[in-house]
Amino acid sequence: MKILTVVGARPQFIKASAVSRAAREVAGMQEVLVHTGQHYDANMSQVFFDELEIPAPARHLGIGSGGHGAQTGQMLAAIEEVLLAEQPDCVLVYGDTNSTLAGALAAAKLHIPIAHVEAGLRSFNRRMPEEVNRVLTDHASSLLFAPTDVAVRNLVHEGIPAGQVFQVGDVMFDTALFFGQKAQAQSQVLSRLGVQSGQYVLASIHRAENTDVPERLAAIVDGLRRVAEQYRVVLPLHPRTQKVLQEAGWLDALSERVLVCPPVGYLDMVQLERNAQLILTDSGGVQKEAYFYEVPCVTLRDETEWVELVESGWNALTPPVSGEVIAARVQERVGSRGAPGQLYGAGDSARQIVQVIRDHL
Ligand code: UD1
Ligand code: UDP
Repeated sequence: MKILTVVGARPQFIKASAVSRAAREVAGMQEVLVHTGQHYDANMSQVFFDELEIPAPARHLGIGSGGHGAQTGQMLAAIEEVLLAEQPDCVLVYGDTNSTLAGALAAAKLHIPIAHVEAGLRSFNRRMPEEVNRVLTDHASSLLFAPTDVAVRNLVHEGIPAGQVFQVGDVMFDTALFFGQKAQAQSQVLSRLGVQSGQYVLASIHRAENTDVPERLAAIVDGLRRVAEQYRVVLPLHPRTQKVLQEAGWLDALSERVLVCPPVGYLDMVQLERNAQLILTDSGGVQKEAYFYEVPCVTLRDETEWVELVESGWNALTPPVSGEVIAARVQERVGSRGAPGQLYGAGDSARQIVQVIRDHL
């Protein structure tokens, strides 16, 4: 059986590493990895292939950045060519990026079954590009791998036949377990940045709804500066955010107080997360990783797809309306804990995914 996997953005490399490894363990299963090139800086792409032992992509499409239509359209055309040449039995896509949608759409048009990992997540906010991407991908897919009960319910509610939906837990938990010790053993990030375990707040900001709305970004910058009056704040800066902050002329004011650094590799990020007092983020993956490492999280968004994190008390949703609100929320949540539990499976999601694909296609 030949599976063709389409990846392109940072979180997809992290998810794909687990499934790729599981696929290599199945006799007769071949995986062709296609990188769209959506993320291309070495610290947004190559570092994950190196650290997470992902084989080099068989095809690199080199699409790069662009508007949603142009970027997705170029990917669609390029992926179609690859699919025609490779003739896979299944196309595997992850999450909700433009690379995900392009992979799914190209496969659907050629009647190739699609397997979607991280299916069924919903913010119910159609203004988010990710929401459109994930809804369309789910409805084009034959096998839908949902990480949570809520995700299963969302899919069934939208009329997806229950027989196509498999609750398998979260592949990011597989990756966290598999590489946890390596991170501990190899990462020097705390000494490199000069921070002490348990004595800093880790921040990550990249969501378009925050970077592209000046009032929200201003509130976040002000919030981070206020938080930094009390705690050390470490901010590995996503290139989207870096660009917008630079254009707005706000980067210097932020860097005066906050320890801003380029994006870090996965092993360093895990160490930064695990040793933080609190994580302040708008990332999907980072919200879950905060929970894996039992670090309280404040999410700077109006809603989250990972509602169980809020319900269990590990995550507090905080729309970035002002710097005061953000700083007060951080103050309130430092030292807090949520309910114990294992919300994202047992770390064997990738193996389950590969088995379902083998048995059903
Ligand atoms: C994308 C995903 C988002 C995901 C995020 C993970 C979409 C619509 N968005 O957002 O769901 O959470 O990845 O990080 O697919 N850039 C660089 N170097 C790079 C990559 C990007 O400089 O290697 C800059 C470019 O200026 C680019 C901007 O970042 O225009 C945004 O990149 P893009 O891939 O379009 O979206 P992300 O914000 O990364
Ligand atoms: N991550 C990383 N280095 C960083 C920031 C994030 O390795 O500087 C990892 C993080 O640990 C998580 C994933 O990237 O596994 C999350 O990706 P991102 O926040 O870009 O996207 P999202 O999850 O919001 O789609």
